[in-house]
Amino acid sequence: MDGATLPNCDFLTEALAGLGTAPKSMSPKWFYDEQGSHLFEQITQLPEYYPTRTETAILRDQIDTLAGYVPEGTALIELGSGASVKTRLLLDGIAGISTYRPLDISAQFLQDTAEALQTDYPDIDMRPMVADFMTDIAPAPTLPDRPNVVFFPGSTIGNLTPDQAITLLSRVREWPGVTAFILGADLVKSADVLVPAYDDAAGVTGAFNLNMLARMNRELNADFDLNAFEHVALWNMGCSRIEMHLRSTRDQTVTIGGRAITFAAGETIHTENSRKFTPLTLRDMARQAGWRIAELVTDPDNLFAEAVLIPAK
Ligand code: AVJ
Repeated sequence: MDGATLPNCDFLTEALAGLGTAPKSMSPKWFYDEQGSHLFEQITQLPEYYPTRTETAILRDQIDTLAGYVPEGTALIELGSGASVKTRLLLDGIAGISTYRPLDISAQFLQDTAEALQTDYPDIDMRPMVADFMTDIAPAPTLPDRPNVVFFPGSTIGNLTPDQAITLLSRVREWPGVTAFILGADLVKSADVLVPAYDDAAGVTGAFNLNMLARMNRELNADFDLNAFEHVALWNMGCSRIEMHLRSTRDQTVTIGGRAITFAAGETIHTENSRKFTPLTLRDMARQAGWRIAELVTDPDNLFAEAVLIPAK
């Protein structure tokens, strides 16, 4: 922690709440400080981590199909845009996009990305908006008098509980002027493929997971011994999700914000769920939120899907 800075009070509040009750858990949103974002970038390049390169290939190969849902003069609205890497495939391949509206919680990241994109796409109107897509955004981020197409790639929807996912999709369904929702979703497959994607040989995902503790040490003045916790990735078949945990290797006490938190040997902090879908579970989720799947495009190995949702009547 910097001498002059106060700890992030939301982070501290959530850490004390999440680690003060059994079972212990933390939201995966806390992974993404500067070091965590850098580690995630490295994850996307790993041989075992198929989602990023597979979705990129789908967007490239199926761009004409997707373009059929993006009429002339469309505003493309992206949820959690980050560095907007995949967005470039849409901006390159879909002529109908006249406005790009990235939503992100990091104002600095948003501004840098919008500036870089503006240089490369001078004819597209950049309208970034600092917003947390998980909350009820008011007023709605859509732009009036034109079609609005929402883009939510990466299978980030899989981080949400089923109820949270339906709430998000229902909310977007109510934004005025939304004509389609392009949603990236990772698909159910063998645990032999799924687990290594979250427990890679080089240990990058482990470092990404453990960074949550390192970040608490940096920002919350906590005293986690990073050598006394280990990365765990497991396939929970019943809930159709990969779970990541941090497992205490011994009985220990950690101090966070002056509060003592005890761990039994083998006790875990549940840090992430990454839900995997089938065409049926995707269709069901869409239907419950007022959408129907107009198009479902996948790669030749059926690893990942890009769904185009349109409002159900
Ligand atoms: C960014 C949520 C899509 O669940 O695959 C990658 C995050 N966690 N490796 C995913 C993640 C561990 C990723 N999402």
